[in-house]
Amino acid sequence: MHDTISFYLNGELKTLRGVAPTQTLLRYLREDEKLCGTKEGCAEGDCGACTVNVSALSADGTVKREAINACIRFMPSLEGASITTVEGLAHDIDTPHRVHQAMMDSDASQCGFCTPGFVMSLYTAYRNRTMLPLAAANDVLAGNLCRCTGYGPILHAAEKIGCVAKAVDQGEDDRVELEQLRSLDHQELVEIKHGAARAFLPATSDQLAKVYAAHPGATLISGATDVGLWVTKARRNLPKVIFLNRVRDLTSIKRSEHELIIGACVTYSGAIGILAQAYPDLGELVRRIGAVQVRNAGTIGGNIANGSPIGDMPPALIALDAKLVLRHGMQRRTVSLEDFFLAYGRQDRKPGEFIEAVHVPLSAAANELKCYKISKRFDQDISALCGCFNIKMSNDRVIAARIAFGGMAATPKRALSVEAALIGKRWDRPTVELAMQEFTKDFTPISDMRASADYRLRVAQNLLLKCFIEMETPLTQTRLVGHGNTFL
Ligand SMILES: Cc1cc2nc3c(=O)[nH]c(=O)nc-3n(C[C@H](O)[C@H](O)[C@H](O)COP(=O)(O)OP(=O)(O)OC[C@H]3O[C@@H](n4cnc5c(N)ncnc54)[C@H](O)[C@@H]3O)c2cc1C
Ligand code: FES
Ligand code: FES
Repeated sequence: MHDTISFYLNGELKTLRGVAPTQTLLRYLREDEKLCGTKEGCAEGDCGACTVNVSALSADGTVKREAINACIRFMPSLEGASITTVEGLAHDIDTPHRVHQAMMDSDASQCGFCTPGFVMSLYTAYRNRTMLPLAAANDVLAGNLCRCTGYGPILHAAEKIGCVAKAVDQGEDDRVELEQLRSLDHQELVEIKHGAARAFLPATSDQLAKVYAAHPGATLISGATDVGLWVTKARRNLPKVIFLNRVRDLTSIKRSEHELIIGACVTYSGAIGILAQAYPDLGELVRRIGAVQVRNAGTIGGNIANGSPIGDMPPALIALDAKLVLRHGMQRRTVSLEDFFLAYGRQDRKPGEFIEAVHVPLSAAANELKCYKISKRFDQDISALCGCFNIKMSNDRVIAARIAFGGMAATPKRALSVEAALIGKRWDRPTVELAMQEFTKDFTPISDMRASADYRLRVAQNLLLKCFIEMETPLTQTRLVGHGNTFL
């Protein structure tokens, strides 16, 4: 068993013993390493001022390079990784990196507070050879906020970087990085002690099952995009934690004829391709979750396990009739996702039991699933409500309907009365208008800072109408289109 964590920082090997389980990478960089180029803006994953590049080995042995928010990333989770900060890009002050140069040439550097974060998002895109036409650049930079709206020159720099990223030979950098990551790779359980606090880092789901069964009171931490805020904002003390991000056998997606089996630790970035292929609207919904840095860290399992009534995955997955595999030690059980949410803040999960996988049926046709996320901002915003419709037709009649909403009740919930008003009926406007009345039987939404109860109810009703229009007349433009993005 290891009791240290090792990682590369700007190419230099670091080995730490006794690191605090919830010390953030941002604090470590700024306070311990005095690498103050990485900034703290919000400390909650919103502004991107703390963006760094984290590279790690994927399950298939290739290198995964990702921009992540250092402010909500805990140190132990960096075991075996390679971190690059803005200081690690240039060899010396006289030879700026191509990303620096593009920023300078475009007059894109302004206050110095947001700039390092923009540089690091662009650096990761550069290392991944991502071409950056405007729509892609908007996506890559959506998690980096500039208070003074100097986005024009930054997008210009992004275009330049995208153009050189493929042309420049980065082979030697790739080889060195891969060698470094391989040298740190191992399958042993890591246990870190810091005073009375403990952090466990299993490398397999069997190790995870064993350690969690032995420590059922421990907090599981996957991408930390929720748990990070418990520490940085709510100042919670987490004396015993188990990190899931090393558990590689939970990071894969298997596809059979009938279903996708998604490991609980698959991130949004890892899932978006295959989900979009199966259900285009679901892919678009995932693209609307947070921004790149959040999607690189946040997991499907974490989004379900947190039990939030406004999480975006549960409504879509309930509409598809997804099932969860829960595991305690060597025991497994399967529950329907809609039954997992018992009440606000309460889920059907026993002490020491974790989500191992999500089974997503492929029984709906690609365009039968309609997903709508309603939020005040397009990117990087939590839903006021999210409605997902899976409606099956035969000869103009509705033969099956599963409709689920987030943001309308204390848990993600199906609209059973609305479904009943549709099933067996002719799929036409009078039926839809009658079914719209049924929403008041299914939901009594609350008013909060995101939306009023009346607004939520009205929008939910109108989303059914929108779904009807989109299914009946697919060429009708129901969604705003701009810069190559589809706006829901
Ligand atoms: C800036 C920002 C924007 C965001 N935007 C969105 C958004 O648009 N839509 C949205 O839905 N969410 C959003 N979120 C919330 C968050 O990203 C998601 O809920 C994410 O999926 C959580 O996954 P995680 O891996 O980070 O979970 P963690 O933070 O690691 O854990 C969350 C909870 O799940 C538990 N847990 C994690 N994995 C397991 C498991 N396998 N088994 C049992 N329990 C487990 C943890 O103990 C904890 O209680 C946002 C967060 C941030 C910081
Ligand atoms: S400091 Fe704002 S995202 Fe990290
Ligand atoms: S230039 Fe940094 S916040 Fe606008």
